[in-house]
Amino acid sequence: MALIQHKNAQVRFDQQVENSENYVLPFIEATHSINAATTVFEVGCAEGGVLKPFLNRGCNCVGVDLANERIDLANTFLADYVRQNQVTFICQNIYDETFLNQYKGKFDIIILKDVIEHVPNQSDFISYLKNFLAPRGQIFFGFPPWYMPFGGHQQVCEKKLTSKLPYYHIMPRSLYKHFLKAFGESEGMIESLLEVWDTSITIGQFERYIKEAGLTIKHKQHYLINPIYKYKFGLKPRKQLGLIGSIPYLRNFVTTCVYYTVGL
Ligand SMILES: C[S@@+](CC[C@H](N)C(=O)[O-])C[C@H]1O[C@@H](n2cnc3c(N)ncnc32)[C@H](O)[C@@H]1O
Repeated sequence: MALIQHKNAQVRFDQQVENSENYVLPFIEATHSINAATTVFEVGCAEGGVLKPFLNRGCNCVGVDLANERIDLANTFLADYVRQNQVTFICQNIYDETFLNQYKGKFDIIILKDVIEHVPNQSDFISYLKNFLAPRGQIFFGFPPWYMPFGGHQQVCEKKLTSKLPYYHIMPRSLYKHFLKAFGESEGMIESLLEVWDTSITIGQFERYIKEAGLTIKHKQHYLINPIYKYKFGLKPRKQLGLIGSIPYLRNFVTTCVYYTVGL
């Protein structure tokens, strides 16, 4: 069922700011300093709320997103910082040569929050991100692993049953499509959920891609209850038990979110 943040951009922006201030920034700061000399790049920045706490620290930021209307909102919500040239929001594919030439080696911190699970060919994409890192730069990833109860993002469904039922997204693709259709989901919703199905990522796959890219994990935190579930389900964030996080297959089913910082 659509939540208020799905319809109201201001609510969405405020939630991004609060979550970034309380969870994302402190997590990154555990392994990388954040001050006026720090350059930050967010891929999939949407309304730009994640960057606001970094702007408040004086960082220079760039946010990129493929959705033009979300870039317009970011420019509106953070207009003062945009005017002062402290942040630039761009609607562009980061694979574009002009983008690469302009930002190669420029960023101390790259942020992908709730984005990598939407990106095709993640192994190549993660490797490509290294192009934008300054020496000793780090990349933050936060994402919901595929096998967790709502790993299919099905909470955004229009119907009560399909939006509340956990785990059914892990059925085979064609069955999943028929199931969503049978319970009344629209063609548009089915298409967007199948996109998530196609780009799903597990904890093990992610860690393998990091290794293949020649990156190393600097810091990681697994959550039993994702910090953003406060806004989605009214639940208090909870860290995952260390023992569960170390059991390869099982951890995917009971870990609703993971945070990682990685670097060269
Ligand atoms: C779930 S939203 C997350 C927004 C924000 N990072 C947050 O945490 O609230 C995912 C965003 O990533 C963007 N996105 C997906 N793939 C992308 C890509 N390859 N390059 C840039 N943006 C992308 C989408 O347009 C969308 O705005």
